[in-house]
Amino acid sequence: MQVRDAAALVTGASAGIGADVAELLGERGARVLVHGRDADRTAAVADRIGGRPILADLATAAGVDELAAGAGAVDVLVLNAGAGHAGPFLEMQADLIEELLALDLTGAIRLTHALLPGMLARGRGQLCFVSSIAGRTGVAGEAVYAAAKAGLDAFAESLRLELAGSGVGVSVVVPAVVETGFFARRGRPYERRSPRPVPSHQVAAAVVRAIEADRAEVFVPGWTRIAPAVRAVAPAAFRRLSLRYGEDVRSR
Ligand SMILES: NC(=O)c1ccc[n+]([C@@H]2O[C@H](COP(=O)([O-])OP(=O)(O)OC[C@H]3O[C@@H](n4cnc5c(N)ncnc54)[C@H](OP(=O)(O)O)[C@@H]3O)[C@@H](O)[C@H]2O)c1
Repeated sequence: MQVRDAAALVTGASAGIGADVAELLGERGARVLVHGRDADRTAAVADRIGGRPILADLATAAGVDELAAGAGAVDVLVLNAGAGHAGPFLEMQADLIEELLALDLTGAIRLTHALLPGMLARGRGQLCFVSSIAGRTGVAGEAVYAAAKAGLDAFAESLRLELAGSGVGVSVVVPAVVETGFFARRGRPYERRSPRPVPSHQVAAAVVRAIEADRAEVFVPGWTRIAPAVRAVAPAAFRRLSLRYGEDVRSR
């Protein structure tokens, strides 16, 4: 996918990984639509990179539809907006389950549903989903977030097969732990020693590489692809290790 002169919409670009992706796409000559929910943060990023700000709450179907209607023709769609939740499943407010699934899974699917027809009509486009290693391995205390990201992975993989030969590519970027405000927002800091957090610009570079080369899947950092591979070939051992080294939410 040629990024220069392409119209790129990056969701969740008011902060963290999305802001870096928006900046990098702008540097490579794309016309960038900077999506966010917070007006000030979104305007600040758009001003800094010379993009156009656009606001919407993607945890609601109406917000997704508004974004799709306001975006116009989009060649590159980076589905990055997301939020986490950490803590024992039964301590989660029931409404938060719907909200997380709406933002992290169904919102991204609905936005794709709205913008894909234009890409297919023009015979060119690239979808890039920002998933999470949590969706590949399962994480104690992050059951709903992990389920949403696993769903996003399965959706992207299926769509990639369905769209083969159409001119529209599908990529998934799978970060492990990234230095952003994500952990503060979800209400619990990252406390494990491994994997170490990587800077958000490293994930942004992987997103742009995936878009330009139509890469199906990129793990950041690359070595973390070992975890789902071990889970697939030695599931019992993987589960023993996960119990031993995973975050212990049972005692909290
Ligand atoms: N950080 C990590 O360790 C990590 C690891 C794996 C995967 N990821 C994934 O990477 C993506 C980006 O995360 P990040 O680390 O950059 O997080 P972040 O710094 O918290 O940024 C999250 C972005 O999503 C937007 N957002 C949150 N709730 C929204 C809503 N209801 N409607 C619309 N936009 C909303 C935020 O917009 P406002 O600021 O305007 O509210 C912000 O732009 C997420 O999908 C996350 O699951 C992160």
